[in-house]
Amino acid sequence: MYPLRRNRRLRKNDAIRSLVRETTITPNDFLVPLFVVEGKGVKSEIASMPNYHRLSLDLLAHEVKELWAMGLKSVLLFAKVPDSLKDNKGKEAVTPNGLMQRAIKTVKEACPEMLVMSDVAMDPYSIYGHDGIVANGTILNDETCSVLAAMSLSHVQAGADFVAPSDMMDGRIRSIREALDANGFKDAGIMSYSAKYASAFYGPFRDALDSAPVAMENIPKDKKTYQMDPANRIEALRETLMDVDEGADLVMVKPGLCYLDIVREVRNTVDVPLAVYQVSGEYAMIKAAAEKGWLDHDAVMMEQLIAMKRAGADIIASYFAKEAVQLIS
Ligand code: PBG
Repeated sequence: MYPLRRNRRLRKNDAIRSLVRETTITPNDFLVPLFVVEGKGVKSEIASMPNYHRLSLDLLAHEVKELWAMGLKSVLLFAKVPDSLKDNKGKEAVTPNGLMQRAIKTVKEACPEMLVMSDVAMDPYSIYGHDGIVANGTILNDETCSVLAAMSLSHVQAGADFVAPSDMMDGRIRSIREALDANGFKDAGIMSYSAKYASAFYGPFRDALDSAPVAMENIPKDKKTYQMDPANRIEALRETLMDVDEGADLVMVKPGLCYLDIVREVRNTVDVPLAVYQVSGEYAMIKAAAEKGWLDHDAVMMEQLIAMKRAGADIIASYFAKEAVQLIS
C-alpha cells in the first residue's frame, strides 16, 4: 500500500492550514522605525524608499496616534540632522533640546503609552558620516563610547524607554548601562544592535538621513573596521554574548533576510529577546521589484516577515510594519 502517512492531508484547505500553522505575524511583533526632520508639515518621501517618509514633529505626533490605533505599540526613532549642526564630536547629539530629544517628547506627549526607542550612534551627527569620532584615519573607540553614554542619558532624560546603540563600538553597552544607572535611570532599557554587519543593504537609510560615509582622504570609506564581516558567524555569537554580559536587555541581528542563519543561532544561544532589523535595502528591493510588476508585493512582504519570525526573531524592526498590519487585519 502506497503511503500510510500523507502530509497533504494537513494542507488540504485553508482551515486545516490555519490550524497547523507554526508561525504567525501580529502587530505585537513590530518595532516601527521613524525618520524625523525639522520643520512643520513636512512629509518628504525618501527616494529609495517608496512610500516611506521623513516627518516633522507635528506629523510625527499624528503618525504615532495612527500606529497606536492599529495596534503598533513600539517605535524606533532616527533624526535627520541639518549639515550645519554636524561635527566630529557629536555635540548636537547630546543637546537637551536637539531634534531627537524633542522627537522623543513629542511621541510621549501624543501617545504616552507608546514604547519609545531611540537610535544611539554618531553617524547622523558626523561630518564624516561615521558612527564614531574620526582621528588619523581611524574611528576612536573609547572616546566614542563616552559620547554614546552621554547621548543615551540625554535620550532617557527626554523620556525614551529604551536606547538602541547601533554603532558597534567595543564596550559601549557597559558604558551606557553605567551612565544610566549612575544617573538614576535603572529602569531605562538597552536594545543593542549586537550583531550588525557591514552590509550594502543600508544604502537607502543613508539617503534618508544623508549620513553616508564621505569620500575624503584619511577618512575610512566604509564601516568595516567596526561593523561585522558578512562572512562571519561565530563572531556574531561572541558579540551578542558580550552585549548580554554588559547589560543589554534586548539584542539584535541586522540585516534580516541574508542573516537568518545568524538569527536562529543567536536565538538558540542567548536567553534575552531577540530583534531582527529588516533594513532599508531589503524594503527597497521588494518595492522596486513590485513596481516593475516582477513580484507580488504583499505576498513577498509577508513571506519575508514570516521567515524572520520562523528563524527565531521575537521582534521585527520593519518599514513594512504598517502595511503588514493593514494586510492581516
Ligand atoms: C546607523 C544606522 C544604520 C542603520 C541603522 N542605524 C546605517 C549604518 O550603519 O550605516 C541602517 C538601517 C537601515 O538600513 O534600514 N548607525
